[in-house]
Amino acid sequence: MIQEAVEIKALTKVFGQGENAVKAFGPSDLDINEGEFISLLGPSGCGKSTLLLMVAGLLESSSGSVKLKGTSVTGPRTDIGIMFQDNTLVPWRTVRGNIELQLELRGLNVDDYSERIDTLLQQVSLSEFSQNAPYELSGGMQQRAAFCQALIHEPDTLLLDEPLGKLDAMTREVIRRDLQTLWMQKKQTVMLVTHSIEEAVQLSNRVVVISPRPGVIDQIFEIDLPWPRDLEVKNSPAFSEYVMQIQRIFQNYGVL
Ligand SMILES: Nc1ncnc2c1ncn2[C@@H]1O[C@H](COP(=O)(O)OP(=O)(O)OP(=O)(O)O)[C@@H](O)[C@H]1O
Ligand SMILES: [Mg+2]
Repeated sequence: MIQEAVEIKALTKVFGQGENAVKAFGPSDLDINEGEFISLLGPSGCGKSTLLLMVAGLLESSSGSVKLKGTSVTGPRTDIGIMFQDNTLVPWRTVRGNIELQLELRGLNVDDYSERIDTLLQQVSLSEFSQNAPYELSGGMQQRAAFCQALIHEPDTLLLDEPLGKLDAMTREVIRRDLQTLWMQKKQTVMLVTHSIEEAVQLSNRVVVISPRPGVIDQIFEIDLPWPRDLEVKNSPAFSEYVMQIQRIFQNYGVL
């Protein structure tokens, strides 16, 4: 039997009880292959963050199950890389110190990772800023530092919750390219939450569309476009066709 990187079965989350209960997600199933890049698209409040938190083991499900490489998720998983919309850089440490913090929290030897930190910082063009404090960096640079934090322990599963949400359009474009390059090198299994249909189509093997609350997985699009998905691919009719098909679903939901 092929083992899925992520196996989500009949997963649900209800917050609260009785009259105040809020159905936040599910029930839904989703299998993700190893090395697959999945994007999750859905209206605000449809349960995307809730889903990622359950996959990470940071939030208990109400019913159903999540398995990572065949192992049930029953508590926080330190073997995965997580990035939230608001980055988790602490102000009292340098960029490098923040990346090292992720190693310390996992009980890993910082010295063993020194070269890897150099390489990652170089890959995201932050070498010159390794000794700077986060507040001395622009928003885009902070997000790139947060990418290094998520990647430093070489996780083979990455959960990214709107990591580019607050950035301007041009910076988003640059960081998307970085993200694609990093993924093409290591082929982690990625679940990316985004509000941008274009971003989802550009970066993903499959785009998963979640319906308005209570969010269930409604449609899944296989994106059959060549890699790397550069500007040329983005300007192609096939790319626009995928974007249009997905836009139509959101029009039908009444949110576009
Ligand atoms: N800790 C919580 N306690 C109670 N309700 C919650 C909690 N977290 C989320 N919810 C509710 O669950 C629903 C789904 O929330 P969630 O944050 O997963 O949505 P989302 O799809 O990530 O939205 P957005 O795109 O705005 O980030 C919402 O109705 C929200 O109010
Ligand atoms: Mg969210």
